[in-house]
Amino acid sequence: MQQITILGDGSLGRAVDAALLERSASGGRPAEVLLLGRPRRGRHDPGDLGRPDLVIEASRPEAVVANVEAAMAAGARRLIVATTGWRPARPRVEALLRETGAAAVAAPNFSLGVALFGRLVETAVGLFGPLDAFDPYLLEWHRRAKHDRPSGTALDLARRIADRHPRLTSTDELELVSIRAGSSPGMHLVGFDAAGETVELRLTARDRSAYAAGILATADWLERDARPAGLHAFDPVVDELIARPIAA
Ligand SMILES: NC(=O)c1ccc[n+]([C@@H]2O[C@H](COP(=O)([O-])OP(=O)(O)OC[C@H]3O[C@@H](n4cnc5c(N)ncnc54)[C@H](OP(=O)(O)O)[C@@H]3O)[C@@H](O)[C@H]2O)c1
Repeated sequence: MQQITILGDGSLGRAVDAALLERSASGGRPAEVLLLGRPRRGRHDPGDLGRPDLVIEASRPEAVVANVEAAMAAGARRLIVATTGWRPARPRVEALLRETGAAAVAAPNFSLGVALFGRLVETAVGLFGPLDAFDPYLLEWHRRAKHDRPSGTALDLARRIADRHPRLTSTDELELVSIRAGSSPGMHLVGFDAAGETVELRLTARDRSAYAAGILATADWLERDARPAGLHAFDPVVDELIARPIAA
């Protein structure tokens, strides 16, 4: 049975734990899961992680390096880093992975819908961009408590649009609106407006299960073939999933 250790017992870690449980219960790949929260002595003792085949990091940015060190010391050679905001520690994490020969996938957003939405938006810009009649715009709406604005996903979409739109020289020139109100778990809308018509592409998140599904698909990707040591992006996982879907 696959041994999986999740570092981070917040809403994402629990959603991944629930998705793994549900997969086992519905006759899918069985896994023994260990879900660990903040360690009492500041950092995890590698022995507390068990003997994991895979470690999923979903904690806090400042904990990422110590958690990757603990995962490597516990013998894990496959890793998924879902935590966001640890970019400055990337060289250290990359070095750790190469030293130990471990492969990791790190992404700020593991939702398959978001990954495919980004590609749809690029195609749409290719179609509408050359037509002077259509103005592009981006609207995002998240719960009142979300601090960052625009969201990381909106920034990524803005970059995809600005990089391809012939009338935009930077993301600053894109009409971008952020709403922080109520409890929306996340809505992103990309539109193209002309005098007589509007075309809109909209992505609406319902809950965290979309991230968990992408993380499980990534776990399968890491296991399916020996991946080169170091950090990988989510894109190759999505490419392979489209070419060769995995049964749930
Ligand atoms: N890549 C994606 O698709 C994706 C999707 C959603 C969220 N995220 C990111 O994933 C991270 C977790 O999200 P979340 O919503 O679950 O956050 P959260 O609800 O705040 O949970 C984080 C949990 O990690 C615990 N923790 C702190 N230090 C730890 C350590 N050293 N080892 C293990 N656990 C530790 C925290 O405990 P304390 O409360 O005691 O600090 C907290 O319970 C965030 O960075 C978030 O931005 C990524």
